[in-house]
Amino acid sequence: MHDLHEIDRARRLLGSARRILILTGAGVSAESGVPTFRGPEGLWRTHRPEELATPEAFQADPRLVWEWYGFRRERVGACRPNSAHVAIARLTLENEDARLVTQNVDGLHELALEEAVSEGLSLGGSVSRAAPIRLHGSLFRTRCTACDDRTSDRHPVDAKSEASLPRCRKCGALLRPDVVWFGEQLDPEILQRAMGAAETAEVCLVVGTSGLVHPAASLPLLTRESGGVVVEVNTESTPLTEVAVSSIRGRAGQVLPSLLAVDRNHVVD
Ligand code: APR
Repeated sequence: MHDLHEIDRARRLLGSARRILILTGAGVSAESGVPTFRGPEGLWRTHRPEELATPEAFQADPRLVWEWYGFRRERVGACRPNSAHVAIARLTLENEDARLVTQNVDGLHELALEEAVSEGLSLGGSVSRAAPIRLHGSLFRTRCTACDDRTSDRHPVDAKSEASLPRCRKCGALLRPDVVWFGEQLDPEILQRAMGAAETAEVCLVVGTSGLVHPAASLPLLTRESGGVVVEVNTESTPLTEVAVSSIRGRAGQVLPSLLAVDRNHVVD
């Protein structure tokens, strides 16, 4: 059970800040049914990252790697945003100085945002500004291994044989998932935007990440070095817990709706 006193403290911190950075990891989607990477039932318990999520693995056996991504696409494609995604979408639409940076490739933040807007919750906010800065790419995009063409793609993947794998419409070369694999650099422009948001944030709210994968895990440190504070929501403690001024033990879907239901009346004084 989460600590109501701690939630109240964190809510005040968030309520008195304009520039808020929310950094999310797999834990924010756990209650939607998307498996995390490192938990007891995490994806990396059953699959070794170096066998599946590296450029070398793809070069050695693209069929196996596509089979795994096809499976994840299918599984994630059936999932719905949960109340944490909804609360975050509302905040980023309401507060034009809030930014969302995610490590997730599941598209659930984007879906929550679309749904909030179609329900008339855009509140005059800009949807493109509220869109997540995606550090690790997307499960539902492909990138050509030859011409680099990127496309949105939600089709089921036929990974029966190498010949049936998805191919580029423009040049016919093999496509790969447009995600960042171990050993690959993040898109420098995307990283720059995320770092800018971390540097200027008064509060960095870190939700559902083990804080083990860099540079994502360095963003809260950047906020702290720049004079801001870190608030963490996680079911367990992480290396970021000791950096946080407030750390709430609980599930994102339970904690975030009350944490982000900010009473703006006691913001300006
Ligand atoms: N609410 C909040 N936190 C949760 C919940 C929940 N319902 N369920 C699990 N968690 C926490 C776990 O305690 C853990 O700290 O979410 C975190 C999930 O950690 P990881 O599985 O390591 O996911 P993440 O931090 O996003 O991984 C980073 O690693 O393999 C790569 O590219 C992949 O983007 C991913 C990156």
